[in-house]
Amino acid sequence: MRRIFVGDFRIGEEEKRAVNEVLDSGRISEGAKVREFEKTFAKYIGTRYAVAVSSGTAALMAGMVAMIYHEGINVKRGTKVITTPLTYIATSNALVTTGFDPVYVDVDPHTFVITPETIKQHLDSVHDIDRYSFILPVHLMGYPCDMDEINKIAKRYGFVTFEDSAQAHGTVYKGKKTGSLSLLSSFSFYIAHNIQAGEMGIVVTNDAKMARIIKKIKAHGRMCDCPICRRSQGKCPRLRSYKGEDDFEPRFTHELIGYNFKTMEFQAALGITQMKRADWITERRRENVKYLNEGLKVLSDVLQLPKFIDTVSYLAYPIVIKDPRRLSRKTLRQELEERGIETRPLFGCIPTQQPAYSHLKKEYEGKLPNADYLGKNAFYVGCHQYLKEEDLEYIVKTFKDVIGK
Ligand SMILES: Cc1ncc(COP(=O)(O)O)c(C=O)c1O
Repeated sequence: MRRIFVGDFRIGEEEKRAVNEVLDSGRISEGAKVREFEKTFAKYIGTRYAVAVSSGTAALMAGMVAMIYHEGINVKRGTKVITTPLTYIATSNALVTTGFDPVYVDVDPHTFVITPETIKQHLDSVHDIDRYSFILPVHLMGYPCDMDEINKIAKRYGFVTFEDSAQAHGTVYKGKKTGSLSLLSSFSFYIAHNIQAGEMGIVVTNDAKMARIIKKIKAHGRMCDCPICRRSQGKCPRLRSYKGEDDFEPRFTHELIGYNFKTMEFQAALGITQMKRADWITERRRENVKYLNEGLKVLSDVLQLPKFIDTVSYLAYPIVIKDPRRLSRKTLRQELEERGIETRPLFGCIPTQQPAYSHLKKEYEGKLPNADYLGKNAFYVGCHQYLKEEDLEYIVKTFKDVIGK
C-alpha cells in the first residue's frame, strides 16, 4: 500500500557527507557548523542575529527568559501574555514553564491564527492592562499573522511582540519573512518542519543585546558570549576585562539563571544542507497545495480546503470538516489512515480541549468558538516536497472514494 506521510526527511549523499565531516573534525558539541548555520539562517530570514538552541521549545523559553533579563524591555515574570489557543502545545508550555500567564484570544477560521480584532477586543475589555507584557502570535501552518496591525496594538499598549514561527520557515508577509517582524522570533527544525535537522531550534532578532542574553541563557547564564571561543589561541576578552578575582573563569561564572539549551554540530550540518534547498522546499509545498486544492474542490461542500496564498510556506495541508453531523473527522481520518494517508489533528484548543490545561476550561468555555471548532474538526495531511504527482493523485482519489464522490 502507498504511504503518504505528513512529512519526510531524505538522507542523501550530501547529508551523509555533512555528518561525516563533523565526525572527522573531532568536535561534535557546538562549534563552527552551528555558527555557520546561525549566519545562514539569519540571512535567510533577514535579521541581524540568530542563536541556535536544542529545540523550538528551547528557543521559545530562551527568548522569554531573555526578555526578563533585558533591561530595555518591560517584560516581567508573572505577567500575562496574549497568545493563541490553537497551536502545538509547546507555545503555551514554554510560557507557563518560564513563569508567564497565557491569555488566549480566538483565531481566524480560515487562517487559524489570532487576529488584530480578537486581540484588540480582549485588551479593550480588561481592567488589569498593566499586568500584560507581550503578545505571542503563532504563524500556524505557515499562515502569517497580521503583524503590522499586531505590532501597532502592541506599541499602543507598550508591549513587545514575539513571533512563534516554528511552522512558517519562508513565509513572506508584506515583502518580509515571518520571523523578522517583531522583537524576536523562534523556529523549530524538528523533523516534521519545512527545514529539518532532527531536533534543533533558533531565535532570531535584530537586537544585539537580546542575542547576547540568549547566548548566555542557553548555557546556564555563563559569562562567555563570544561568537567563537578563542581561548585555545590564548585570547579571552572576558578574562582580560574582568577586574575582580584573580582566579576568574568566565565559562564557570554565571551571571544569569538559565538552562542548557546548546545544540550539536550534527544538527547544524544537516540544517546547512537543508538551507540550500529552502526555496525549492517552499515552492514544492506550495505547488502541492495548489494541486490538491484543484483536485479536491469537488468536495468543497463538505470540506473547507486550505486558503491558497502564494507567499505562504505551507507546513502541511489543513482541512476543516464543514458539518460534523454529515461527516465526522474521526471517521474520515480513520478511513484515510487505513488507506495509507497519515493525518494529524489541528492540535486542539488548549484551554478547553487539552487535559494539561483543564484548570482553564471553565474560564474559557464558549469564549473561543473558532478555536474550539477547529480543535475538534480540523486536521492535516502532508504536502511535503517529496510527494510525486502520483502521490497527490492518490490523495485526491482516496478522499473522493472515502467521501463518496
Ligand atoms: C508552533 C510551534 N511552536 C513550537 C514548537 C516546538 O518545537 P520543538 O518541537 O522543536 O520543540 C512547535 C513544534 O512543532 C510548533 O509547531
